[in-house]
Amino acid sequence: MNLPSTPNVSLADAVQEAEAGFVAANPASQAAWQEACASMPGGNTRTVLYFDPWPLTLVRGEGAAVWDADGHGYVDFLGEYTCGLLGHSNEVVKAALEKKLQNGINMGGPGIHDAAFAQALCNRFASLDRVRFCNSGTEANLLALNSARAWTGRDLIIVFEGGYHGSGLSFPKGGSNFALPFETLVCPYNDADAARALIAQNKDKLAAVLIEPMLGSGGCIPADVDFLKLLQSEAKACGALFILDEVMTSRLSPGGLQQKLGLDPDLTTLGKYLGGGMSFGAFGGRAEIMDRFDPGQANAWMHAGTFNNNVLTMAAGLAAVTEVLTDDALNRVNALGDQLRDRLNEVADDAGAPVHVSGIGSLMAIHFENQDPDLLKLLQFDLIAAGVYLPRRGMIVLSLPMTETDIGDLVDAFAEFVESRAGLLAA
Ligand SMILES: Cc1ncc(COP(=O)(O)O)c(C=O)c1O
Repeated sequence: MNLPSTPNVSLADAVQEAEAGFVAANPASQAAWQEACASMPGGNTRTVLYFDPWPLTLVRGEGAAVWDADGHGYVDFLGEYTCGLLGHSNEVVKAALEKKLQNGINMGGPGIHDAAFAQALCNRFASLDRVRFCNSGTEANLLALNSARAWTGRDLIIVFEGGYHGSGLSFPKGGSNFALPFETLVCPYNDADAARALIAQNKDKLAAVLIEPMLGSGGCIPADVDFLKLLQSEAKACGALFILDEVMTSRLSPGGLQQKLGLDPDLTTLGKYLGGGMSFGAFGGRAEIMDRFDPGQANAWMHAGTFNNNVLTMAAGLAAVTEVLTDDALNRVNALGDQLRDRLNEVADDAGAPVHVSGIGSLMAIHFENQDPDLLKLLQFDLIAAGVYLPRRGMIVLSLPMTETDIGDLVDAFAEFVESRAGLLAA
């Protein structure tokens, strides 16, 4: 890629020019999107995959690379929004799935991998005495919140600004127009005084405090560990449950971010990569709470779900957790992420560019001081043109098959962006 230097070009003009390049390069994706518009609103069934003028239609993935309908190959730093940790073609998971397919699907009874997979998760995450499976991180959070309501007999949930816990469980600044009808209070993230006061004022009504230990979709903003510990102790002290949403962050150390930060949540929610790439969600925690789901007990809490123990997820998840997601593999990818983030910040600092990369380990996000959304748009078009796939929100996600070369490709493309667009970043 040789981007034109743009000292005298406005941001709007630069975006227009970059978009014209994207349009010219991606006619097959355009055609696929136009066809999709006939049957799906905006041609889309998953809002976060949409960007204008149209998203790239992906036709193949291998290792840490994806290819689009127009034949371009990319290093994949979107990483299926953290679910793609294993890459696109892990041989161990493929073998487990192929073997499973020989023995039939949709059988309607407990399967032979369910308990082993559950045990592997309980072994990995110290706060899980027991776990139950579901199909997504959204569902895991719904079930954890309902568990807290049933356990405490209270309704109020404290959540945090910028938090994302699934569709309908999203708490952006300014509120959401599509929220589930839980009784919630939204507290600023990392504001210990506000949280302490909010919990104290509502201690008799509070069922749960639900938080991501690092805002994921909200821009890879790590929480202060003292803030998390305060929430944990204050929630527990008033009889509410402390629920840690580790759907994204559980990959940041072998035992999750809770291990790294020394947290002991009452309930933890999981999702994404732990199902080996199949549809997956899980929630679990203290035995006395989770055992209320024991169907053999009087007044057991009801949790059904046709696909809770879907044989493909159970087989792929068990193989992923016990054979692929080793301590070494996770430590390596997170160290690579730390290295990448340092290098990107170095590029920005050396150029005096007003941009910063936040995050932990293998998850990070680019933040421009100039908050004009057109900058993220320009960044995405420029990086796509350089063979680097990432979402418009500027999130960067690593995967196990990534190499130093892949990281270098992103650093080079980012350096070129920072240099060629310098005048626009400062605007
Ligand atoms: C922290 C967090 N919780 C929950 C979810 C929802 O998971 P799912 O998309 O599997 O429903 C996500 C998804 O991005 C997430 O990042």
